[in-house]
Amino acid sequence: MKSRLSELIDDLHDGFCSVRMNGALVYANRSAKKLLRIENNETTDFFSTIIRNKVLAESIKKGLLSGTSLNDIECDLYDYKDNKFPAILTVNTIKDVDEKVIGFALLFKDMSALKEMYNQLLQAQKMESIGMLASGIAHEFNNLLSGILPNAELIKMTIEEDSANFARADAIHKSAQRAGNIVKQLLSFARNDQIDDDVSLNLNRAVSETLEIMSKLFGREINVVNKLPINLPLIKIDPTRIQQIIMNLAINARDALDGSGMITFSAKPVEIKPREGNGLAEGKYVLLSVEDNGKGIPEESIEKIFDPFFTTKEPGKGTGLGLSTVYGIIKNLQGGIKVFSEENKYTRFDLYFPQSQYNETVEEIEPEASTEEKNKTVLIVDDEKVIREMAKDMLAYLGYKTICEDSAAHAITRFKSDQNEIDLIIIDLIMPKMNGVNCYHEIRKINKEIPIIITSGVGETNKRKDMLKMGAVDYLQKPYDIKTFSKAFEKIFSDD
Ligand SMILES: Nc1ncnc2c1ncn2[C@@H]1O[C@H](COP(=O)(O)OP(=O)(O)OP(=O)(O)O)[C@@H](O)[C@H]1O
Ligand SMILES: [Mg+2]
Repeated sequence: MKSRLSELIDDLHDGFCSVRMNGALVYANRSAKKLLRIENNETTDFFSTIIRNKVLAESIKKGLLSGTSLNDIECDLYDYKDNKFPAILTVNTIKDVDEKVIGFALLFKDMSALKEMYNQLLQAQKMESIGMLASGIAHEFNNLLSGILPNAELIKMTIEEDSANFARADAIHKSAQRAGNIVKQLLSFARNDQIDDDVSLNLNRAVSETLEIMSKLFGREINVVNKLPINLPLIKIDPTRIQQIIMNLAINARDALDGSGMITFSAKPVEIKPREGNGLAEGKYVLLSVEDNGKGIPEESIEKIFDPFFTTKEPGKGTGLGLSTVYGIIKNLQGGIKVFSEENKYTRFDLYFPQSQYNETVEEIEPEASTEEKNKTVLIVDDEKVIREMAKDMLAYLGYKTICEDSAAHAITRFKSDQNEIDLIIIDLIMPKMNGVNCYHEIRKINKEIPIIITSGVGETNKRKDMLKMGAVDYLQKPYDIKTFSKAFEKIFSDD
């Protein structure tokens, strides 16, 4: 029985030690040996070596001797090699046959992993609340920009290019566009952005634009080289997603460089043949490689780098979410990601993006002021006056007639009486009293055919898909511009 009990104690997952009154170690089970890094016969005083905290050590001795029990004390312990770890400690006295206290039994649990998890949870919660804050601000910002962006655009389109006011309007336009991009980044950070993976995009342009911003932040000692060829096939990915990928990989590379070095971006089209893929389906891809000549990734870490929360950075410097986000995005696209690295030499991430089916490059055409009357009337429903007026101006510029209503109820009444004159309805999603979706359904009860566009200042994942599924012809994210309107309308009215 005795040997069975000592076996059980030896097998305990928690550390168990017994020490004499003077602090000399008598027994340590297997977990304790591992946790405290006990090698041979450790001779130092357990209290001053392992517990160290004098107040705690004294209270253990005094408390126990006076009969107080000491259970589940949260404290820091040290191993025999001087490393600190957080622990939960329970101490009891050991008595001889005459009930005389002859030593102490200490049971302790290593709390490092749990504490780490707790810190990560805190970090995740912090990220979530910052995310909520960010998306709130982004929403307000979007509304403000809806008033600025198209106005600046309209001024530019209606005055001479060599006038002083053109340059001023251009400056406003450019700043507002930049502000719009910041809003997009905020929304993307808040994981609340409008993701549209049906977009076909030129990787070269996306990488160049992101690198232009990033390389300025990296300082002169870090050389960011963009080797992407111009004529790459298009890939199917949302622009904010690609930005997230590039930013995460570039920041990781910068961190690996320790102040100076080179980060190279290159790309080429590749074709994966059947059974060649190594996890990738056969087909055509664009392969993007991001390489740095930094410190590299140790072999024991390489398997873990895509795990959420795996980080080798100091607390506060990294959350370990960068690569797991990248991995998630790539997997969603049915693409692939591979990593190659040698310590103190290089790290290279190879990303396989499936090519888009639409591979003729479509030139973007600047919309022109339309002198010809389109003979179409658009009903605009938005609770915000500035947005109604803006949309009205933009549509007039494109040659459309407009009717504006400030609420769902007014729009429905208007549509009931004038439906024969209305060719298209644009409804804002978020309005007081009756929201855009309910307004949509009320209008549908009156007319099943009329094209309806839903617009919104709040970006939400899948909103676009939801709205199209509901039956809207399009979903436009504010702040909208003339180009977006013109494109959307052309598609809608192209059959007439
Ligand atoms: N280019 C690289 N060179 C060397 N190590 C890298 C490189 N990229 C990633 N790593 C390693 O992979 C770990 C995980 O990267 P990941 O981007 O997921 O998290 P992080 O950068 O630590 O934190 P976060 O991106 O959330 O700020 C890093 O901590 C680092 O150890
Ligand atoms: Mg990172």
